[in-house]
Amino acid sequence: MTQFEKSAALYERAKRVMPGGCSRNTILRKPHPIYAAKGEGCYVTDIEGVRRIDFANNVASLIHGHAHPAILASVQTQMALGTAFTVGTEIEVQYAEQLVNRSPNFDMIRFVNSGTEAVMNCIKAARAFTRRPKIAKVEGAYHGLYDFAEVSQTASPANWGNLKGPASVPVSRGTPQSVLNDVVVIPFNDPETAIAILNEHKDDIAGILVDLLPHRIGVIPAEQSYVAALRKWSTDNGALLIIDEVITFRTDFSGAQNSYGIKTDLTALGKMIGGGFPVGAIAGRAEVMDMMNPLNGPAPFPLYGTFSANPITLTAGSIAMNLFDQAACAKLNALADKARFGIAEAIKIAEVPACVTGRGSMFRIHLKEKAPNNYREAFIGPEEQKCLSALLDHAFGNGLLMVETGAGLLSTPMGQSEIDHLCDTVLSGLRKIKPMMLKN
Ligand SMILES: Cc1ncc(COP(=O)(O)O)c(C=O)c1O
Repeated sequence: MTQFEKSAALYERAKRVMPGGCSRNTILRKPHPIYAAKGEGCYVTDIEGVRRIDFANNVASLIHGHAHPAILASVQTQMALGTAFTVGTEIEVQYAEQLVNRSPNFDMIRFVNSGTEAVMNCIKAARAFTRRPKIAKVEGAYHGLYDFAEVSQTASPANWGNLKGPASVPVSRGTPQSVLNDVVVIPFNDPETAIAILNEHKDDIAGILVDLLPHRIGVIPAEQSYVAALRKWSTDNGALLIIDEVITFRTDFSGAQNSYGIKTDLTALGKMIGGGFPVGAIAGRAEVMDMMNPLNGPAPFPLYGTFSANPITLTAGSIAMNLFDQAACAKLNALADKARFGIAEAIKIAEVPACVTGRGSMFRIHLKEKAPNNYREAFIGPEEQKCLSALLDHAFGNGLLMVETGAGLLSTPMGQSEIDHLCDTVLSGLRKIKPMMLKN
């Protein structure tokens, strides 16, 4: 039996019943995906019995790794009491209070089931509040699958147009032209160009959607001046500032927005706040959140959802966030500083044109000499992709799970030994791909 025989056989079965053999393209890898048998802390063991350190953490959603005992115990207790009701539960109120208390920008909150839903509902709330149709979003930023939020996510040199006025590029075939017309695409970290573009649509923009440390744009922080310019423009022009913290909430006790010293209008949350279960949330300014309030007549934006605020997710999330207090967050971020430092050292020793970016508990390796500052600079061309895939294959073969872009996310069960393993593996991987990189 070869090492991956069970996974290969399972994938053959999978391809017969699911397009591409999966429900989420994220799991795909060549020649076939691997399948998890179990996760414990920061380790995942696959069905062949191979154990790897998990730097993917279900794409940033697991802050305490797998099967945390305290989360497990409370979920098991709640499961015996019921998993979903058509009435409220106390945990919904308690967890809402808990999250609202984490950020001065969260007056109120509502729970949904995914980051996609959270972003979609922020956009709908912004439209209801402003009575305007358009949203502005940053070129290349990933915000989930809502038609309007996904525009330009996968723009490429073939279709992205002029940087001074990026094209609204559809992701899914069949996206209505009306959707593209209602999405204003702005470049990242270029306040002058962004403001000039916004000015062309100023009476129509309901909100500007921004991720402050966007993964697909390279895990590079939004510059203070950029965020300040978007905040000022939206205030001056009656639009809302919507921050997507579906991933970045893990970077600071109060989310990435905390370090910008700004008042935001709406925030989309997800991933980590579900404690390992599907979740999303919309948090923000009371007046805007009131768009969902049906107590004084029909809500301007009615919000329902069969599994929203189910007590399993909220029990797990509440425990996870209690455990992720200021001290735990600072400790994890300090460990990630060591990872970024160690990777930068590996790059120096290997003498390859590469760099590492990131903030909080996130990092991303770029096979580029200089850190990118926008989507176009972060874009991975075909030659670079070959080298990156070889590096990630090397990491995989040496016991690391990472995100396909070369990004990694830490979890609280990790310690120095996992970081040492990561940095050693990156060094040996870079040495291995160096001839390939230098050929390009
Ligand atoms: C920044 C950001 N927003 C929204 C989403 C969508 O979240 P979900 O996959 O839970 O729908 C993601 C998912 O990766 C994300 O990274």
